[in-house]
Amino acid sequence: MAAAQLNTFQQAPHAMLPRPTHDERSRQEFAKGLRGYLQKAVLPGLTPLFASMKQSSTQGMAAMPDRNAIRRRMVHEPYFQSYAAANRTAQELLWLSVVDSLERELPRLEAEARRLEGKLGSLRLDPAMEVPRYVTALDIHCMPGGYASKADPQQLAAGALYDRGVYLYAMGYAGPYSDDKGRSVCNYLRRHFPEFRPRRILDLGCTIGASTLPYKELFPEAEVWGVDVAAPCVRYAHLRAVAMGYEAHFAQMNAERTGFPDGHFDLVVSHVLLHETSGRAMPRVFAECHRLLAPGGYMIHADLPPFDLMDPFTQFILDNETHYNNEPFWGAMREVDQVALAERVGFPKGTVRFDTAPMAIREAAARKAAGYDSAAAGAVADREFKGGEYAPGGGWEVLIGRKAGATAAGAATTNETTG
Ligand SMILES: C[S@@+](CC[C@H](N)C(=O)[O-])C[C@H]1O[C@@H](n2cnc3c(N)ncnc32)[C@H](O)[C@@H]1O
Repeated sequence: MAAAQLNTFQQAPHAMLPRPTHDERSRQEFAKGLRGYLQKAVLPGLTPLFASMKQSSTQGMAAMPDRNAIRRRMVHEPYFQSYAAANRTAQELLWLSVVDSLERELPRLEAEARRLEGKLGSLRLDPAMEVPRYVTALDIHCMPGGYASKADPQQLAAGALYDRGVYLYAMGYAGPYSDDKGRSVCNYLRRHFPEFRPRRILDLGCTIGASTLPYKELFPEAEVWGVDVAAPCVRYAHLRAVAMGYEAHFAQMNAERTGFPDGHFDLVVSHVLLHETSGRAMPRVFAECHRLLAPGGYMIHADLPPFDLMDPFTQFILDNETHYNNEPFWGAMREVDQVALAERVGFPKGTVRFDTAPMAIREAAARKAAGYDSAAAGAVADREFKGGEYAPGGGWEVLIGRKAGATAAGAATTNETTG
């Protein structure tokens, strides 16, 4: 079984990915394994603990009506304290295990960058751009230096750190190219809007472009753009795309006001961007999506589900990210009425909706796709995702809005299928 898991969960190499030595890889595997162990073996122990807390409380659930009340009680429990502390330590260890090999690899990556720069697609940087405080004020999910680190003169290291680190963070469940979110939304589009042929596609908050590239694969004729406020991420995204043979365009831009012309895109997407913005930024991002879309174009934001779709205990587990993983907007974002927000910026009333895009990697594993041996495929396909794991419920929650008007890209509502 161990060998099968190794086959399933190895990251696919490309020229810009830091290459760990044997010892570095083994530290990284340990950090990934520790995280997996905490999620699979320790986190589930909170469920019976919660049950016994409810039983022993004279007022039962009434004393813990919501996730904040549950937290107020839980923080006194030694089991929870141990879990939360170990989880935080594992997260910090995970990034640090990548930093060592990245520092050693930087000269090679810089040489590769000089070789690949500008070979395919394009890159626009904006040195005058002010990166929003919600990105720079703290190291989101404990990534050392954050996305837009100033201590990155080559404007490369943060992207490379994210590429390897986020693969370990997702414990392989985002696929060998960490592109599961993009692939899942692409599968969703293929099923639900089979006639849709967007001519220009924009991915907001693209980081290293992992979710951006599946759109180029699905729509090879389209002009595909990824934008992000962090220069080291978009530069790396461009180099990574070239290394992987994709013609895509990347730019350092703020999703709140990109600078693209009105109606420029048929499809505007984001993947786990919104929970890393802020209460003020989110309405601006929605308004910008509406402005950027051509009539009939689609806005799709993929993230985790809003809190009102889950029970208070699952909310409490997910909200650990807010409290212990430097994700200050994680919980608050899940309470925003996103449908109302989308309607306020101009998407037609009654048409904006949430849906679930099943995780592409689970579907691929279930089909026993090439590269998955049957034991490993079964393990992924049958795995139950729960609160606190990567994508609870085995899917990405997608918020879908369509701009009013007829589209040239061919996605009439009548072409929607439910397959
Ligand atoms: C969790 S990462 C997104 C991951 C990526 N979309 C993927 O699927 O792999 C969030 C990214 O959003 C970027 N970001 C945050 N606020 C932004 C904004 N207002 N405009 C553009 N990018 C933003 C951050 O710099 C970071 O790279």
